[in-house]
Amino acid sequence: MLATGVPSVYIDTDKGDDVHDAPTVDDVRADVNARMLDAIAGPAEALPVPVNEEMENARFLHERAYSVVRDIMQDGRMGKAVQVENVAALVDDITQSVVRNSGALLAMLRLKNRDDYTFMHCVSVGTLMVTFGRALGLRGEPLRQAGIGDFVHDVGKTFIPDAVLNKPGQLNDGEFSLIKRHPAMGHEILQRSSNVGAAPLDITLHHHERIDGKGYPEKLSGEDISQLARMATIVDAYDAITSERPYHHAITPTEALRKMLEWSSGHFDDVLLKKFIRCVGIYPTGTLVRMKNGWLATVTGQNSADLLRPTVRAFYCTRKREYFSPVTIDLARSSSHSIAEDEAPELWGVNPMVYLADKASH
Ligand SMILES: [Fe+2]
Repeated sequence: MLATGVPSVYIDTDKGDDVHDAPTVDDVRADVNARMLDAIAGPAEALPVPVNEEMENARFLHERAYSVVRDIMQDGRMGKAVQVENVAALVDDITQSVVRNSGALLAMLRLKNRDDYTFMHCVSVGTLMVTFGRALGLRGEPLRQAGIGDFVHDVGKTFIPDAVLNKPGQLNDGEFSLIKRHPAMGHEILQRSSNVGAAPLDITLHHHERIDGKGYPEKLSGEDISQLARMATIVDAYDAITSERPYHHAITPTEALRKMLEWSSGHFDDVLLKKFIRCVGIYPTGTLVRMKNGWLATVTGQNSADLLRPTVRAFYCTRKREYFSPVTIDLARSSSHSIAEDEAPELWGVNPMVYLADKASH
């Protein structure tokens, strides 16, 4: 079982399911594979700047986003009005970075090196929302408002004790109902701040609704949930399940996208989910992959014509268990190299990020 830290529990089909007439694990896998391929059909947007040239700026923006979110949460906790102007300026600068090379910031989100999950989660979800919104054609003020909404979406958690937010075991009914109050509490904090627009209010209140009406707090379903809130549920779940938490282990980005496709009929808007997959790629930039020849490599860039064959920087041989002088491979142009699967860096004790900033990687 995997949970997102909220009372939505996802069934992991890999663990088996004895429900009579239920689809087999193989059926589910084949269906997910087909839908994954469907999601990435057609050309994606080409990025004007290589990832290594954007990494330093992305690192700086990631740090800045952390302090902006921390200030917002602290203001919320003290009952002060939330200053969204700082978030708006941040969203604008993040948008510029995303336009140059979205892979740099997306890769930064893999660094979960802060103790405070709630802050880091808001940073990740806000950044993902800007990337996703832009990919869907949002520009200017609507994109800014969408980004602000996701940077502040969990501000209501500031009133929930850490012992509940970080509880390793199952939450009891009382704890569940407390957690379920955070969207409304966040909405209240933002309403008290006169300068917050309709989109951030909507996203904050509705980012835990589900397409099948089984979410909270209002049990909205289908298109009664706004498109922005439906997008928010996707980026929220993606970041939650790729993060290590006291109550579940992180899964890799590629595995997370597969799991979300499995769950999409109940949880997510399927059309939007496929667009999200197309936006981040099957192997998002910064992902560690194992090649069929046993090499480990970092994904350094997407091939806009074929998201299954990104550019990678290979650096480690799993068969010999040794590093080698890194080599860049454009898998779209290579007949001898291809990806076997994505891997968890912790499993191999390697740091794939090092090879993103590598000046020789492009
Ligand atoms: Fe939330």
